[in-house]
Amino acid sequence: MCAWDWQAGKNAVVCGPMEIIIQENAERAARMTAKLIADAVREKPTLVLGLATGGTMEKVYEFLAEFHAKDSLDFSRVVTFNLDEYVGLPAEDPRSYRYYMEEHLFRHVNIKPENTHLPDGTASDLKSECQRYEELIKSSGGVDLQLLGVGRSGHIGFNEPLSALRSRTRATTLSPVTIEQNQIYFGESAMPSRAITVGVGTILESRRCLMLALGKQKAAVVAKALEGPISSMISASALQLHPHCTVIVDEEAAADLKEKEYYRLIFKTEPDWEAYR
Ligand code: PGA
Repeated sequence: MCAWDWQAGKNAVVCGPMEIIIQENAERAARMTAKLIADAVREKPTLVLGLATGGTMEKVYEFLAEFHAKDSLDFSRVVTFNLDEYVGLPAEDPRSYRYYMEEHLFRHVNIKPENTHLPDGTASDLKSECQRYEELIKSSGGVDLQLLGVGRSGHIGFNEPLSALRSRTRATTLSPVTIEQNQIYFGESAMPSRAITVGVGTILESRRCLMLALGKQKAAVVAKALEGPISSMISASALQLHPHCTVIVDEEAAADLKEKEYYRLIFKTEPDWEAYR
């Protein structure tokens, strides 16, 4: 594992093999993800934390709420930036990501509402909103730790296939694969076809990335992202360019990885992982 100094900032990490950790089930994978976040918050109480939504993260947030309740994990100085929001959905819409975050994390911990940020999908001028969001991330000192899921389209955030590897925060059209994946949250009604997302370039500027993928439906895309070529067709593959990226998967999501045994060996051998084994 890379030595990491949250205080030293952007150039603290000079080494950079991607860290791929296979956990036996979804529960353990989510727990380890939450533990890494909790440890980062303890090391740097003013952590700028990039957050993600989706079914995958629900358990992670449950654990963080538990760590807050039982182990006094303190979010009072943490600042958060979410990756994305649907265009047209106000905060009070239960299908908006602002609502999701309130439900799953914010109302369970002592984070200050004014320290939680999501793009405003109802802004009348989406371009200015995207620029405002980018600038806000910058003026907050940049993201220290970016939590990420991966969609079946290969997206991180809503960076669908063709997203430039240097893309920035913008409004974008969701791919048919993503619409099929997320329609379940919208029942019979049509889901928004557009969203604001931070860019691949924005994500790559975070000091550390932490991706979690669970279940057999993610196996193919995980293998493409981690072991395939870097391509704008699979935005998650851009994480191969990141100097400090940790990926946690359960056995099902790891199923198509070719070098599984090597990744297991690294996790078992590296002393820095001892506290997490
Ligand atoms: P999921 O979504 O957690 O609901 O699978 C992840 C994503 O699409 O990024």
